[in-house]
Amino acid sequence: MKQTHTTPEKFVGVGYTRDRAGLPLEAVRIPVPQPTANQVLIRVASSSLNPLEYKLAELNFMGRTPPVVLGFDLAGVVVDVGHDVSHVAVGDAVVAMADLNGDGGWSATGGSGGAYAVARQFLTVRKPPSLSFRDAAALPMCFLSAFAGLNGAIQAGDTIYIPGGGGGVGHLAVQMAARAFEARTVISSGSRPQSIALAQQSGAHFVFDYKRDDIATEIAELTNGRGVDLVFDATYSEQGFAETAKTVRRGGSWIVLGVGPGKTSRLAESPSPVDAILAERGARHVNINLLRYFAEPATLDSQARGFFERGMDLAMEWATRGLVIPYVSQTVDSTVEAINTGLRSLKAGSGVLGKVVVTVDRNLAAGSEGNRPIART
Ligand SMILES: NC(=O)c1ccc[n+]([C@@H]2O[C@H](COP(=O)([O-])OP(=O)(O)OC[C@H]3O[C@@H](n4cnc5c(N)ncnc54)[C@H](OP(=O)(O)O)[C@@H]3O)[C@@H](O)[C@H]2O)c1
Repeated sequence: MKQTHTTPEKFVGVGYTRDRAGLPLEAVRIPVPQPTANQVLIRVASSSLNPLEYKLAELNFMGRTPPVVLGFDLAGVVVDVGHDVSHVAVGDAVVAMADLNGDGGWSATGGSGGAYAVARQFLTVRKPPSLSFRDAAALPMCFLSAFAGLNGAIQAGDTIYIPGGGGGVGHLAVQMAARAFEARTVISSGSRPQSIALAQQSGAHFVFDYKRDDIATEIAELTNGRGVDLVFDATYSEQGFAETAKTVRRGGSWIVLGVGPGKTSRLAESPSPVDAILAERGARHVNINLLRYFAEPATLDSQARGFFERGMDLAMEWATRGLVIPYVSQTVDSTVEAINTGLRSLKAGSGVLGKVVVTVDRNLAAGSEGNRPIART
């Protein structure tokens, strides 16, 4: 017999209650949000951890008024939709990224569920039945970041350097470049045997140790002195930026995720040699920042919405075709403690490989609810 679901008025999430509180996060009781015309309310099965979440708790740079519940990557089942939502319906299994100006979907109930989050229609896509809630939850933020960096910049046959190919964004970017965009040569880096192995498994042809190897010299040798067509650097490493910029060919592109060189702390600007290095090569410096779309809702024109829609569709399509598959190194139950431990590891830059998934609702994540085939009658 099909179970009916009653949405509660409130739930206990995981987030922060004071401005710039930082870690540790705490249990936060908030009302279950109501979807506006273009939003979808999702009962969350799984989520994942992103560095963004500890950074928001520390800096609150979106200017939110606490309490704020975190957990922006969402995989779950639709329980309500706004008037203008047409492409998903109540009962559908979906994958989404929560609106960063709103709350996320982590619960403090240790995997027994009860967390709800709204996502905008253009950031919500139906989950293919072949993709688990677990894997689906690892995709939105990291996939969209990698897609934003590479789409329109990489050409089939290019040689690309993607440092940090064992990271959340990095391993998906390597897969995307090698398998979906058909780069000829993908070069990556890591500092641990496991992250080097993940970059290799993800399709990188050459993976260097950024703490040990002289990668600019290695790349010069690999490319007969020419350099790579483009770099996609999602490492947020100021020291690393200066090294990766040296590997771009004349007239190539250096694409950085986020606020870019000299600004990664978000607190103060520091001098960076990157633009001088790129100018010597006549190379382009491109900043890709997903967050600006959320900080400035007015910039969400139809082009931006279309980009996100296409990105979410391709995330599902490429995962289904086996082209871009998230590597989930760890799955933790959604408790305050487990989430704090995971975020501390991400912040320390130690020990996290690929993605850490948070099981918010064990039964929903394991079950077939909402897993009906995409083709509708
Ligand atoms: N603004 C935006 O739009 C946006 C969106 C998404 C993510 N981000 C940011 O992007 C960054 C990466 O996110 P993530 O989820 O991929 O984090 P992650 O999973 O922690 O990955 C970080 C990776 O960077 C590698 N790394 C660190 N320093 C390096 C260096 N000098 N050279 C080469 N690789 C280096 C690490 O490799 P080893 O472990 O092998 O040392 C690790 O694999 C975070 O700071 C995040 O906040 C920004």
